Amino acid sequence: GKDKELIRGSWESLGKNKVPHGVIMFSRLFELDPALLTLFNYNTNCGSTQDCLSSPQFLEHVTKVMLVIDAAVSHLDDLHSLEDFLLNLGRKHQAVGVNTQSFAVVGESLLYMLQCSLGQAYTAPLRQAWLNMYSIVVAAMSRGWAK
Ligand code: HEM
Repeated sequence: GKDKELIRGSWESLGKNKVPHGVIMFSRLFELDPALLTLFNYNTNCGSTQDCLSSPQFLEHVTKVMLVIDAAVSHLDDLHSLEDFLLNLGRKHQAVGVNTQSFAVVGESLLYMLQCSLGQAYTAPLRQAWLNMYSIVVAAMSRGWAK
């Protein structure tokens, strides 16, 4: 449908430049909730956004996030095929101290990145299409917190 076209069309160029776009997203995330910096406890201390951005492991995580989004975009026709993967991914995030409420802020940061990168092409229907897909991903990850 229309949602899938909007998502695929907008991801076409963004997906080719994962790290810079992921950096915009995470910089926004730390602006909205600086406490999340403390969850990235790599060898390099992520004391500030700048510290984090200069940590290779942090940039690897940025890439990992973008690859999950990439997988969701590629599986728009059968998102449920990612359910087990996403449930396990949720479990890993519970283990590192992430709270499911933080995913709302991650979603806001994703939309912010899309808005910055797409300019005029960032429309209300496009925003809604991305929110719909992101909600499915987050719902699947959140099952990793159950019990
Ligand atoms: C792993 C933190 C959101 C995808 C990790 C790790 C940490 C972390 C500390 C383990 C170390 C590492 O692999 O770098 C966070 C925080 C988040 C967040 C604080 C936001 C509040 C996300 C989101 C996605 C994601 C939204 C994808 C949709 C991944 C992946 C891994 C990972 C694929 C690797 C899991 C594995 O080792 O199998 N995350 N993460 N993360 N994260 Fe996140």
